[in-house]
Amino acid sequence: MTVKVSQGRGRQRHVYSVWAVYRLLVLTAVCSAAETGPSVSECDVSADSRFDCFPEKVVSKEECEARGCCYSPPGHNEHIGQPWCYFPPSYPGYKMINLTQTDKGYSATLQRSSKTFMPCDVFTLQLEVMFETESRLHFTIKDPTKNRYEVPIPTPRVSGKASATLYDVQFSYDPFGLLIRRKANGRVLLNTTVAPLIFADQFLQISTSLPSSYLYGLGEHLTSLNLDLKWKRLTFWNRDLRPASDSNLYGSHPFYLSMEKDGLSHGVFLLNSNAMDVILQDAPALTWRTIGGILDFYIFLGPEPKTVIRQYQDVVGFPFMPPYWSLGFHLCRWGYSTANITQQVVKNMKNGNFPLDVQWNDIDYMDAMRDFTYDRNQFGDLPKMVKDFHQQGIKYVMIVDPAISNTGAAGSYPPYDEGLKRGVFITNENGKPLVGKVWPGLTVFPDFTNPETFSWWYDMVKNFHDQVPFDGMWIDMNEPSNFVQGSLDGCPDNNLENPPYVPGVVGGSLRSTTICASSHQNLSSHYNLHNLYGLSEAVATHYALVKILKKRPFIISRSTFSSHGHYAGHWTGDVVSNWEQLYYSVPAILMFNMFGVPMVGADICGFGGNTTEELCVRWSQLGAFYPFMRNHNGRDSAPQEPYVFSEVAQTAIRTALQIRYSLLPYLYTLFHKAHSAGETVARALFIEFPSDPNTWTIDRQFLWGEALLITPILEPGKTEINAYLPAGTWYNPKTGEGIESKGQWTVMPAALDSINLHIRGGYILPLQYPGMTTEETRNNWMILEVALTPEGVARGDLFWDDGESLSTFEKQDYTHVLFLAANSVLVNEIIRVNSQADGLALGMVVVHGVPIPPKKVLVNGVASEDFNYNIKMKRLDIQRLSLPVGQQFVIAWT
Ligand SMILES: *[C@@H]1O[C@H](CO)[C@@H](O)[C@H](O)[C@H]1NC(C)=O
Ligand SMILES: *[C@@H]1O[C@H](CO)[C@@H](O)[C@H](O)[C@H]1NC(C)=O
Ligand SMILES: *[C@@H]1O[C@H](CO)[C@@H](O)[C@H](O)[C@H]1NC(C)=O
Ligand SMILES: *[C@@H]1O[C@H](CO)[C@@H](O)[C@H](O)[C@H]1NC(C)=O
Ligand SMILES: *[C@@H]1O[C@H](CO)[C@@H](O)[C@H](O)[C@H]1NC(C)=O
Repeated sequence: MTVKVSQGRGRQRHVYSVWAVYRLLVLTAVCSAAETGPSVSECDVSADSRFDCFPEKVVSKEECEARGCCYSPPGHNEHIGQPWCYFPPSYPGYKMINLTQTDKGYSATLQRSSKTFMPCDVFTLQLEVMFETESRLHFTIKDPTKNRYEVPIPTPRVSGKASATLYDVQFSYDPFGLLIRRKANGRVLLNTTVAPLIFADQFLQISTSLPSSYLYGLGEHLTSLNLDLKWKRLTFWNRDLRPASDSNLYGSHPFYLSMEKDGLSHGVFLLNSNAMDVILQDAPALTWRTIGGILDFYIFLGPEPKTVIRQYQDVVGFPFMPPYWSLGFHLCRWGYSTANITQQVVKNMKNGNFPLDVQWNDIDYMDAMRDFTYDRNQFGDLPKMVKDFHQQGIKYVMIVDPAISNTGAAGSYPPYDEGLKRGVFITNENGKPLVGKVWPGLTVFPDFTNPETFSWWYDMVKNFHDQVPFDGMWIDMNEPSNFVQGSLDGCPDNNLENPPYVPGVVGGSLRSTTICASSHQNLSSHYNLHNLYGLSEAVATHYALVKILKKRPFIISRSTFSSHGHYAGHWTGDVVSNWEQLYYSVPAILMFNMFGVPMVGADICGFGGNTTEELCVRWSQLGAFYPFMRNHNGRDSAPQEPYVFSEVAQTAIRTALQIRYSLLPYLYTLFHKAHSAGETVARALFIEFPSDPNTWTIDRQFLWGEALLITPILEPGKTEINAYLPAGTWYNPKTGEGIESKGQWTVMPAALDSINLHIRGGYILPLQYPGMTTEETRNNWMILEVALTPEGVARGDLFWDDGESLSTFEKQDYTHVLFLAANSVLVNEIIRVNSQADGLALGMVVVHGVPIPPKKVLVNGVASEDFNYNIKMKRLDIQRLSLPVGQQFVIAWT
């Protein structure tokens, strides 16, 4: 397809703006921007379809027209954020020439004959289009003459070309554009002809139309689940900031999923780690604007949202398999200022009968807040404390920050002395370690892209573990956060510190709350690598822990980038104790599951500010369904451990914890499916019910896997809630009540002591009687909760292993059992069994939806008297069973 566009443009002239002159002084390769004369020919563009020609600032008519763009400041009723200066359709782009077929797809040359308003246009570009799989298209746009920075995460290497594809690619030659369609229905998924492609050294921009306004992803931001397209700018530049809307936060995942009009779905991933803006507008359309690297796009054709998410994870990596204990309850606070206090917390939990698996310490344990040390006065018996915890079946995790104190006397602090000797720190323009300021005072910053840093980090972690046998690591402050701007000496003036365009970062400058963009890392500049800092630390930590523990590592990180979930989990940072943040935690958790980071949670009851009892109860009830469940509090906030509240509140929190512990076998099986098949654990309703448009905007309810619907209370003073039940049968496990839904909103009671849960007809959940730890729970009786459809069928499964060994799935050292119910018979089917299943026994079966009272129950052919039937609830309970789960059983009711 060729789109011919008139080339009416004014005379070009070179005008050196202030910064261009400035660049003249600092750059060896100087290039200038063009300012074209005004040629406002085609400015009649509908407001929603305008693409910003002057993103740097608010402009005057003269400045706008000097760029050859159209000027029209929005009137009173028009939306804030709408561009004042926008491209006319005739704005010159690239021209495509020499399109050729290759063994992978196509390649072509793109040529620009005129300068844009940005300096250092790359006039000739190479386009590669790769038909990698039936459902995955990959295309790159690069400078063929110069190696530019590319994101160093491992991605699939594909040779050849998929023979049949769900997509179809067409090209616009002049201006160049890509048109990607879904073959099945001809729908245009991407059309990059909507605005000019710009590829300058520090400004790369490409826009596309969207097939619908149902868009998800593009984290990490404080947003609803389906993104607001009304002139929103989402900025990616990892930053230490209390979650706030319209702000760049801790992580970057430049991936979106789009729900098309009929419930089909596709996804787009821009593999680029530079500072970036994504602009959303109601057209609907989207603009990617990044200030470095290359354009490296993956398009995933789904066609279901589930498959889109898996296809994305095929590129960035499937999630790590967590240790079983990490699914238990974690408790932490900044302000547990001694080992004695920390131990007392564990005692109080035990005395209050609250399940607890993992006790944490924040920076309090450190000596002068330095990594890999502990305070000999306040935490003198830390090693003993951790061993005591282990005796009680409790694990221990402590915080570690990347920044290393550099002010100790020489020879007094090995992490610095060794690191300096081994050259592992990020350096400044003088080749000296860049000095910033974090908790311990002045610090330097390890460069985790240097292979030597991996071995240094391992040595430090190992040395500390030899003293304090911790079980997991919490890596914080790794955006990296810095209490001074750039460095103690500021930052040099150069094109990396002051790029011609700065995305919408909080603070207005790349150095805000972090280190200088132009500082040097082994692989490239920090300018390119900044967004990978947390990821690279997570990778180094993962490998260190694998080597030290020889078991599955457990790592929770604040900063993340695409592929993070393969190595570690995430918590959503310094959230405040209020109802608004309680709500926002739901879309945050659902999005990270879409990003392949299923091990995610928010600080239960909030980190900053004082919680109230009601908020903390509701937050604990929701938090029982975060895949990562941790209550964490700030130093200056009112206490919020479960045991500090009234008896009524304690009972409600204890119940929530017991429900979670009883669901652990189901939760663990979901993590296995995430690890082995790229599924989500906490799942948005639209992912499970894509053909029901009512679900597309629901982010106040969610699912665990396919089968369990969670309806938390997110507002104060509620005694009932209006909840959506997608079409099907749903059973309330507490009351036993079953509801046939056509896909409808239903008002439900919402007393403070309960959380609304519904089991989906057609599914079987494996449960266990809850103990005080995950270990204790693992030894308890198993329960199967069978939720029959009106046709009387249901299925479920259980993944089981020792819960801690490395690669049990890969080594096939696990048990996998299917459970099937039909025709009033429940059987198991052993797919694989190992010795770990010895002792795992089924003690009880609950069957929901049994229409008529059974007269007889047969267990492996033997009549049993141990059953009850509730005629009102149509629920059959079969008790006092003792059936090894790893051996075939048959339970029949007639
Ligand atoms: C395009 O192809 C022609 C003919 O093969 C060749 O002469 C020319 O150099 C190519 N142009 C570019 C920019 O690769
Ligand atoms: C692609 O976008 C261009 C520019 O807006 C438009 O003219 C063209 O019709 C679009 N193509 C399709 C197939 O929608
Ligand atoms: C904390 O210290 C006090 C005073 O030494 C002691 O009585 C108490 O048992 C300690 N608590 C724990 C949990 O070790
Ligand atoms: C990167 O690190 C390796 C190993 O430490 C070292 O040999 C190499 O010189 C470093 N490269 C740069 C550009 O710093
Ligand atoms: C929060 O609680 C702490 C201690 O419990 C108290 O000192 C502080 O004043 C409270 N802050 C607010 C804002 O109420």
